[in-house]
Amino acid sequence: MLRLAVLTVFCCAVLVNCLPAERSAPAVGDTVVGAPVEGVPVQAPEDSVQAVALQVQEPVEPAAEAPQPAPLIGEAPKPLDAQVPPRAPAPPVLQEGAIKGEEAPVPKREERSAGIEDEAKPNNEQLQRMIATLRKWPVKKPAAAAAPAKAPAAAAAPAPAKEAAAAPVADATKGAPSTAGGKSGPLNICTWNVFRFGPKKFDGTDGFPKKYGKSKIDMMVEQIKNADILALQEYFDPSLSVLNTLKDALDAQTGSKWNYSVSPRVGRVSKEQYVFLYRTEVASVVKEAVAPEPDGDVYSREPFFTHFKVSKGKAMKEFVLGTIHTEPSHAIQEMNGLVDSFDWAEKEFGLKDVMVLGDYNADCQYVRKSAWPTVKLFTDSKFHWFIPTGTDTAAMASECTFDRAVAKKDSKFPAAHVAGSLKVHDFVSNYKIKVAEARQLSDHFPVCLQYN
Ligand SMILES: *[C@@H]1O[C@H](CO)[C@@H](O)[C@H](O)[C@H]1NC(C)=O
Repeated sequence: MLRLAVLTVFCCAVLVNCLPAERSAPAVGDTVVGAPVEGVPVQAPEDSVQAVALQVQEPVEPAAEAPQPAPLIGEAPKPLDAQVPPRAPAPPVLQEGAIKGEEAPVPKREERSAGIEDEAKPNNEQLQRMIATLRKWPVKKPAAAAAPAKAPAAAAAPAPAKEAAAAPVADATKGAPSTAGGKSGPLNICTWNVFRFGPKKFDGTDGFPKKYGKSKIDMMVEQIKNADILALQEYFDPSLSVLNTLKDALDAQTGSKWNYSVSPRVGRVSKEQYVFLYRTEVASVVKEAVAPEPDGDVYSREPFFTHFKVSKGKAMKEFVLGTIHTEPSHAIQEMNGLVDSFDWAEKEFGLKDVMVLGDYNADCQYVRKSAWPTVKLFTDSKFHWFIPTGTDTAAMASECTFDRAVAKKDSKFPAAHVAGSLKVHDFVSNYKIKVAEARQLSDHFPVCLQYN
């Protein structure tokens, strides 16, 4: 019985990884980086895949998205959604026409598939047979990027280079103006959900320096060193010692002095803290507040807002940044709560200039294409979305735009936004990390936006 259960869970996880990432509604705005992906393969078996996925996928957090034969060293497993109330009935399908045009599912990135194979080493014969069957599905591709240059797998993959070029993600080696970060240039505001960022993150047991040539803290600093203000989610260390370790590393490697604005521990199931790290020569904190529940118990972790004054940027002298980490199964409800929290923040801080950035879980299995018409924060034309769907912010096998940044159109943010400045720091590609091991750093990429 136990074996059957384990088998089922494992196969479900494999199934989920074999799914193409579902693309949701297009985000409004002018910040699309790169062209839409062309030559999207036809996915014949989608219906059957989707049907199975619907049965098994909904109650699982993205953290459980990849099968994990061995738990992360020293880290508690992420709680499953089963611990929170089940999702409300599926939203009605409305206004399909309004969100047509971006319906083509985007294939998983070639190299991302590699992690699944590397990761799954079943010793059970029956399991292996089932996995072999799953692998025949056409959504699974040979791992071109991960394969040695001469491996036949590289030739078999359909034009991986072209696909990579078409992907809407800038890699960290290009696109980032060297002026970003520090005294001059536009203000660079970033968000990053650092998977279970607690005392174990830098304990050195991961073998990263040996495997990937760099420690996790050096990787982190390299990804965020151009930020002026960085919103972090999933911080788990009330002593702040890990945060101080990161701050000290930023001090040492950027030549700036950094400070932080940290929320109290919030959360009904899994308590986390929100953090804004900022350069003290650029920004200072005026006031901080956790948003009250707008109505009942909407938020899993109430969003945290900090009022900053900044010394660079023409328009952005002061503003309020909020950050949120939604519970995946309640992403829509929590996004709708933000509509009220924007109004609350404007009153609380006496400023119209409010932007909320963070892990909205606003894509793929958590916010399906058909559900977007029920997302008031999206359908209400007062709001501007800076990170469009199609931007891969997930350091996972599937491509999802979980991380978002939203401000009101009549705030200073849309006009001050530097067109084309959206940047995803894809550390998985940058350091050639196995997808299965990426979450030892994080299951999300840092995402940055610039403002004048
Ligand atoms: C850092 O922030 C804290 C809390 O806002 C403040 O008390 C402290 O003076 C700041 N330190 C520096 C060096 O700016």
